[in-house]
Amino acid sequence: MQRIFSGVQPTGNLHLGNYLGAIRNWVRLQGEYECIFCMVDLHAITVWQDPKELIRNTREVAAGMIAAGVDAEKHIVFNQSMVPAHAQLAWVFNCVARIGWLNRMTQFKEKAGKHKENASVGLFAYPNLMSADILTYKATHVPVGEDQKQHLELARDTAQKFNSDYGVDFFPLPEPLIFGAATRVMSLRDGTKKMSKSDESDYSRINMTDDADTIALKVRKAKTDLHPMPDTMGALDERPEASNLIGIYAALADRDKQDVLHQFAGRQFSEFKAELVDLAVSVLAPINDEMKRLTADTSHIDAVLRRGAERADAIAAPILRDVYDIVGFLRP
Ligand code: TRP
Repeated sequence: MQRIFSGVQPTGNLHLGNYLGAIRNWVRLQGEYECIFCMVDLHAITVWQDPKELIRNTREVAAGMIAAGVDAEKHIVFNQSMVPAHAQLAWVFNCVARIGWLNRMTQFKEKAGKHKENASVGLFAYPNLMSADILTYKATHVPVGEDQKQHLELARDTAQKFNSDYGVDFFPLPEPLIFGAATRVMSLRDGTKKMSKSDESDYSRINMTDDADTIALKVRKAKTDLHPMPDTMGALDERPEASNLIGIYAALADRDKQDVLHQFAGRQFSEFKAELVDLAVSVLAPINDEMKRLTADTSHIDAVLRRGAERADAIAAPILRDVYDIVGFLRP
């Protein structure tokens, strides 16, 4: 069976974009692959995290994934810092990947902004840690969004350079599994911006912890335009907010965007929004309830993560040991 590794940063609330863009896809991959899902807390601290918040978010993201249907018994769910091989292999990759390669990473440029000199060294080396995440399990497939494709290319280049520098056929070259553009969820306040946990306005997103009333309020307040729903996909190009809401409806209903558009063509937004609220609540409320149950007692989720980490370590540690032998480190 082929092996998947994927990571999510435990920084801030899970929202609808995380659910439709990542978590739901992970749930669906479980039948076909052996899956390893990781809360990447080491990646999180490449920018400042309040320690209490980081722990809280690590538990919340894990609970959200499990509530949404990730099976932590059949597959592996854990947090990155519990398995030492990630940081250990990242160091080796810091010595394999080239500065020139990392200089080309667009996410670093975006995140570091104008103050590149002031960014953490970890933020610059972030992609090497990501390569280590994947390769310390010899994962064959990695579900990623468009924004992570470049990092995955780097992981392949690094695997290849390691293999050729040391004259071994050790690391597989991991393949991306990219999910369709339909899952790109945009802000409810601005249809041209991605739905994000860092947006100042909580009305820009639907959080996985929002109750039914909050979801209804946010959908009702979502930005629209003055025209009724169009009947052609082409007409949506100029109407980012309409396009986003139709896209969310289609994703939640697991239907074609075109098909949803036909259903609502010519109708007013108020009518459409009422139906969107019902649909969103029907999908999210059960997940919300289960998340509450799972996070009520932190000892339960902590035990799940600890058990996941033990199983992850059992795969990663021997692979890391082989790497150390290949590199020429004396055994302890
Ligand atoms: N960089 C990814 C993101 O921000 C998270 C991540 C870390 C990841 N390690 C990974 C994703 C390994 C896939 C595989 O979304």
